[in-house]
Amino acid sequence: MKIIGTGSILPKKIVTNDEISEIVETSDEWIRERTGILERRIAVDETTTSMAVEAGRKALENGRIAPESIDLLIVSTFTPDRSMPNTACAVQGELGCRCAVAFEMNAACSGFLFALNTAFAYFSLGMYKRALIIGAETVSKTIDWTDRSSCILFGDGAGAAVVEADKEMPYIFVQHSDGEKGDVLTCDCHREDNRWSLAGNRKEKVWMDGQEVFKFAVRKVPECIEEVLTAAKISSDEIDWFLLHQANQRIIRSVAKRLCVDEKRFPVNLAHYGNTSAASIPILLDEWNQSGQLKRGNKIVLSGFGAGLTWGAAMMTF
Ligand code: COA
Repeated sequence: MKIIGTGSILPKKIVTNDEISEIVETSDEWIRERTGILERRIAVDETTTSMAVEAGRKALENGRIAPESIDLLIVSTFTPDRSMPNTACAVQGELGCRCAVAFEMNAACSGFLFALNTAFAYFSLGMYKRALIIGAETVSKTIDWTDRSSCILFGDGAGAAVVEADKEMPYIFVQHSDGEKGDVLTCDCHREDNRWSLAGNRKEKVWMDGQEVFKFAVRKVPECIEEVLTAAKISSDEIDWFLLHQANQRIIRSVAKRLCVDEKRFPVNLAHYGNTSAASIPILLDEWNQSGQLKRGNKIVLSGFGAGLTWGAAMMTF
């Protein structure tokens, strides 16, 4: 499988750490030191769907790909605008990918990676040949803006990649989930209670045990990257770029250290966007591609991790 186009979009509104410290008791210094985040983008006029459409459009343009040639369209999000129809169908309608089957996937911050893996599985069966994979989120609408331990972390945006089946281009992946640990990072669905049910103790905003999530990430991410490198029979020295989910600079630094890989090979853009969940990997991929730092023939590792718990890694040649 190979990537033949990338695209991304971010909301216009920038919210700095200083602005956040006007809402909750925190400071720019605390947020920078603990997370590496300086600012994030917050959707005001944009929606998950509008950003998914725009990122998808840019990825098609980048690869000079006709929308009708897409036969699989997956949008990964945990913040859709509607429960139905699914976001991918809305994107299909807007972009004219009329030959595609379109559906949504939710694996939180691992979502883009899991969607890529799904496309690869379909390609391997010979069912589809060209897929548009999008990660799009408006996390801001699920944030508890009174909770200083979580509201500082997230941002909105969308990223996309067009991938194509290619037997000459190996794609190797591992993916995992652990539902027993699901309670450390949650966001309940909004629900109007019906006349027979009682409103329960629901957490309709993002809720997180930050330390547990941190411990999970620094343990599982290096583990699954090593697993994928072993499966691919390749050493970490041969990998040009490690494109990780952008949650926290300290997590990325710790992963690099555990793998004994120079941090410079871990591109980072979380300083400006925060954690955009399923959108973070494709936004980073697109920025690295557009800036010319990611070159054809580069070997890359993608790794996502997040609520579920879910995590995984994939290795491919760009
Ligand atoms: N500003 C100032 N102080 C804050 C704060 C904030 N925004 N958030 C928490 N604190 C306080 C806590 O209340 C605590 O105070 P106390 O010691 O008086 O009780 C203190 O800072 C330390 O809290 P702690 O939770 O131990 O901080 P931490 O070093 O673990 O950092 C996170 C907190 C959330 C930044 C960190 O745990 C983290 O990044 N976890 C991973 C989260 C993540 O990436 N989630 C998404 C994964 S997909």
